[in-house]
Parts: sequence; structure tokens; C-alpha cells
Amino acid sequence: MLSNSKAQSQNVILAQLDNKTQFVYEVAFARRELDGLKVNADTKLNDTIEFEIRPPYDIDLLAKRLAHFGKVGDRITEYSRIVSRNQKRSDNQFLTHWYYPYKGKYHPRLVRSIFNILGLEYGQTVLDPFVGSGTTSLEAHLFGLNAIGVDISPVCQIIARVKVTAGQIAQKLPLLREKAVDAMKKDFSEYTKIEPTRKAEAFNSEKDGSSYQQFLDSLKDDKVKDFFVLAQLIFASDLGRRRRDFASFEKNIQTMIASALDLAKTQKELKTDRPLGEVSIHEGDARNLKDLIRDDSVDAVITSPPYSIALNYVYNDRYALEELGIDLAELGEQCIGVKGKGRQKVDLYDEDMRRCYDELYRVLRHGSYCVAVIGEATVDGEHTRNVHNAIEYCERIGFTLKEDLPKKIFGLYNTINDERVLFFEKD
Ligand SMILES: C[S@@+](CC[C@H](N)C(=O)[O-])C[C@H]1O[C@@H](n2cnc3c(N)ncnc32)[C@H](O)[C@@H]1O
Repeated sequence: MLSNSKAQSQNVILAQLDNKTQFVYEVAFARRELDGLKVNADTKLNDTIEFEIRPPYDIDLLAKRLAHFGKVGDRITEYSRIVSRNQKRSDNQFLTHWYYPYKGKYHPRLVRSIFNILGLEYGQTVLDPFVGSGTTSLEAHLFGLNAIGVDISPVCQIIARVKVTAGQIAQKLPLLREKAVDAMKKDFSEYTKIEPTRKAEAFNSEKDGSSYQQFLDSLKDDKVKDFFVLAQLIFASDLGRRRRDFASFEKNIQTMIASALDLAKTQKELKTDRPLGEVSIHEGDARNLKDLIRDDSVDAVITSPPYSIALNYVYNDRYALEELGIDLAELGEQCIGVKGKGRQKVDLYDEDMRRCYDELYRVLRHGSYCVAVIGEATVDGEHTRNVHNAIEYCERIGFTLKEDLPKKIFGLYNTINDERVLFFEKD
């Protein structure tokens, strides 16, 4: 068992998968979690999937840490309580995980299970150099791990930060809701006067005289301001991409605040047991982290490298990026997987990813792991060999591939359904 655990019982107990686990691959990850926590367990396939756990084990520790389980013995797990605080319909959107319609997130539960597979200890530091919408950093924070998140996109920086800080300022938000809605309503009524052909680029982009901008300027607390900026970015994206109307802003603000209050409640409960993780989010380039992160300083990297070879983040987030005044072409130059066409695009992607792996090797402590969730895609008729290339290059620079777990997801909503989770150890 891990160092802070103590064996508590001599009885065999059953650990049951959480009833919100959805995918076949999750059974394998559940098994690996138990292995990572050095538990002796046998799989029992009943009508609910259960594992039989033999002594010695520490039931408190298991109930606190496990990701894929709803019950251990007679204990409800901490995580099943966390995931039940969900204002949305989709299971992976609990707490503030749903903030912003970001395409290409990975599953929060997967991330937490990797903490266990690696046997990470509270207070250690996890890096996600492609933090995207901040799934890794929020999960690390709740678990009690410090997190460093880096992303090239300024939109991601805001999403990832607000997902964690919303809990700290949750009590202030209901009082500001009406002001925010009134200000946005004014801007929106101006916007509706604009000719339909100009609408996509015109909303709120002329900041002079914008009521919402005045509302933002009146906010003194940066965390509160970030929250309402994110609400604005969600609205810009919903308006442009999904053709939503003003009611969506009003509804989203309401739901965002409800989720922030859920997060605050969760943070308060968890803090009675252990310090929550510190999170720092940076705008940066994963190909060069030298100014941000020292050599041999990180305890784990958990990340999903850009799928931008199949998913163009700059294009997907264009409405939100434009709201922030970002030059899309300039950002596209820095964004891995967006440049070029066909074979050249794939080659540029591979070259950029090699630079990232060099950096990840540099910042990890010896004996620590880089876990990368990697999918294959076909780009302009060219097949990527991401998994093969990652393994070949990482082994060349000193990593050892310790585990290669398939993560098949079936469903129409998922464009890349053949993914692998690669565990590389820095020797
Ligand atoms: C697959 S997404 C990560 C999604 C994330 N795991 C989540 O759950 O939200 C990859 C991210 O890599 C970012 N990215 C692309 N090029 C980058 C670069 N050069 N440096 C850092 N981040 C980059 C993209 O902006 C995108 O947010």
C-alpha cells in the first residue's frame, strides 16, 4: 500500500464500479487503479461489475482516492459524491467541467484514475502542457495535487483558470448576476440592429460603449472578472457556432453560478480532509517551457496532445478568440497541427511533437511518468502514425514505455475513437 495507508480490516470486501462509468475501457482502468494502490483484487463480472478486495487494505484511503468506483465495502466513494454535483445532463460535465463548449476534452474520471495508477501522493505536482479546457488541473486540484497547466490559446487559459477559481468567489456571483444580464441585454439589443451578414463578427467587438465591458471594468476582483469574461466568451461562441439567442446567456449565467456554488461546497468539504492542490495556469508553448518550468521538477505529466491535426482549435474557438482581440492567423502559426496541408501538415505536427517530448523529458523527475492520451486520424487522405511516432521518439530520448492501454470509445459524437493511453517512464 502507499506510505500513508494502514491496513484496517481482515475481511474480503467488494468494490463496485460507479454506475456512471460508461465505457468498456474503464473496466481496465479500474483494475489498474487497484494495482496502482497495491491492492489484491479479483474481478467478478456480475450484473454489476465488482472487484473482490482481499486484506490488507485501507478502506478510508480507497474510498477517498478511487475514480471508477461508486462503493468500496459499505463506503460511498468521495468521487461518486463529487460527480453527482452536476447541473448538466452529460456525466462528464459535473461541477465546473462543463464551462465553455470546448471540443476535444478528455474524461475527468480517466485523469483521476491515472493519479492512482501512478500512485501519486497528495502535494505532488502534475503538469499538463496542453491543458485545453483545464480537465487535468481541476481534477488535480480536487484530488490534492498541485497542477501546472500550459496552453498556447488565451481562451484555454481563461477556461482552465475559472474552472478552479469559480468556487472561491461563488458567494459573490449571485449578487452580480442581474447586472451582468442587464449589461449584456443592452449590447445584444444593439447587436440585433446590425445586418445579418455582419453579425458574426460584429457582436461586442466594438468595445467602445459596450455595456458589458463597462460592467467588467467595474469589477475589482480579478477572479470575478475572469468568471464574467468566460460567460461572455461562452455566449460569443454559442451565438456564432450554435446560433443561440440572448436567452442562452441568461440561462448559462444561472447554471454557471449554480456550478460555482457546487464547487465551493465540494472544496469546503474536501479541505477538511487535506489541502487542495494549488493550480497555476500559463499561456505558453509546450515546445519551449524553459521560462516556466525547471529541469527535473515535475512529478507527472498527464496530457492529451493536440488533436488539432483532426480538430482545428483556432477555428473552433474563433468567436471567443475574436472577442479577446486575438489574431487568428498568428495563433494558428503557434498551434501544433494546424499548419500546412496533407503530408506536410502531418510532418510538421510530428516535428513539433518531438520538441514537446524533449521538454517533457527535461522537466520530469527521474522515475516519473509522462502519460499521453493519443489518437490517430486521417488528414487530407494522409494517415497519422501518432502512436508509433510517439513511442519511437520517446524511447529514443530516454523514456521507457511501461504500459500501453487502448481507450476505445464508441459513439457518434466522438470523431477519434481509436485512442491509446501511453505511460512513459523517465529512467
Ligand atoms: C487535445 S487539447 C487538450 C484538451 C484537454 N485535455 C481538455 O480536457 O480540455 C490540446 C490543446 O493543445 C493546445 N496547443 C496546441 N498547440 C500548442 C502549443 N504549441 N503549446 C501549448 N498548447 C498547444 C490547443 O490549444 C489545445 O487546447
